Amino acid sequence: MDLSFYTGKKVFVTGHTGFKGTWLSNVLLQAGALVTGYSLKSATNPSLFEQTNTGCRMTSIIGDIRDLASLSKAVRESEPEIVFHLAAQPLVRLSYREPVGTYETNVMGTVHILEAIRHTPSVRSFVNVTTDKVYEIREWHWGYRENDNLDGYDPYSNSKSCSELVTSSYRNSFFSQPDSPSVSTARSGNVIGGGDYSEDRIIPDCVRASRAGKQIVVRNPHSTRPYQHVLDCLSGYLLLAEKQYQDSSLEGSYNFGPDDVSCVTTGALVSVFCEYWKGTSWIAQKIGGPHEAGFLKLDCSKAKSVLHWNPHWDINVAVEKVVEFARLGSDEERNACLEKHIHEYFSF
Ligand SMILES: NC(=O)c1ccc[n+]([C@@H]2O[C@H](COP(=O)([O-])OP(=O)(O)OC[C@H]3O[C@@H](n4cnc5c(N)ncnc54)[C@H](O)[C@@H]3O)[C@@H](O)[C@H]2O)c1
Repeated sequence: MDLSFYTGKKVFVTGHTGFKGTWLSNVLLQAGALVTGYSLKSATNPSLFEQTNTGCRMTSIIGDIRDLASLSKAVRESEPEIVFHLAAQPLVRLSYREPVGTYETNVMGTVHILEAIRHTPSVRSFVNVTTDKVYEIREWHWGYRENDNLDGYDPYSNSKSCSELVTSSYRNSFFSQPDSPSVSTARSGNVIGGGDYSEDRIIPDCVRASRAGKQIVVRNPHSTRPYQHVLDCLSGYLLLAEKQYQDSSLEGSYNFGPDDVSCVTTGALVSVFCEYWKGTSWIAQKIGGPHEAGFLKLDCSKAKSVLHWNPHWDINVAVEKVVEFARLGSDEERNACLEKHIHEYFSF
């Protein structure tokens, strides 16, 4: 994918201190974009954002998405042409413990970024990052399509369904003029990549156990998920923002997920991990816990035919990259590895 479109462009990223946000900011920086980020401090320790010292290469604003005045000021003053909205409470299990905070951040956060954009005439293209979990769970054999029913089950998933509806309403109500920004939502699968330190995610759990020399415990080994490398999913966001900037008729909702070969059970994913991290093994353990979908897959025909987007790294390559990153010992090595993976993926 050619990223020259982004060279010299002013881009605003919410959630830039998070896992995906740090990767996205670094891709944009390598492409020569002028990046401003707005986010709370990273919630994890360690954090990829800190390890790679990304904040010193961009304008990093630490602020709360629930604070409309502060967010609007940041957007207005940075005068971006492109905005990616990633700031969210993104964890399913935490959303059961903290539903109110999850809805506040994920729903009102979306209202606030759209309000900020409404009053910032420089913005031409907006991508709201939601998730594969926005769909009503049908437990059927097919991938979900963009026109399937939105009704996420748990508070996290449901808050993202609401974020989709908020975006749709703003598009209809405020962004329908010819000079309005193009507004889209991007629904991606479960991303994996170096530097994810979140709780309750399978790859970070694998890395933590392997580093400690322990056996990996897998909660739901039979659940099927669309696993993809973080750069595959970011390439979709970047392509969408670029294409709809050039042609506003392309705005809408898009799925970005892996090909079928990478839609595997969690047990199969962990087995691949164990092949690359020699000496590790895993066991299934029913620990109880909240409801989770058994089978989740995305139909990405729309992104492939309209945007000409395709995933590049299958599950084996993705896991190999995760393990390569996770075995590094210093921040210098991690920063170099992050740059190398971006370089390999986008062939700068
Ligand atoms: N990681 C995945 O597998 C996955 C899959 C589908 C969708 N997503 C979506 O991608 C986005 C990024 O996810 P991630 O995995 O990088 O998560 P993350 O937890 O690493 O990052 C979340 C970011 O949001 C920020 N944030 C949280 N609450 C905030 C608030 N009140 N105000 C301002 N900033 C706040 C955090 O500081 C952080 O920068 C989220 O919207 C998530 O729902 C992630």
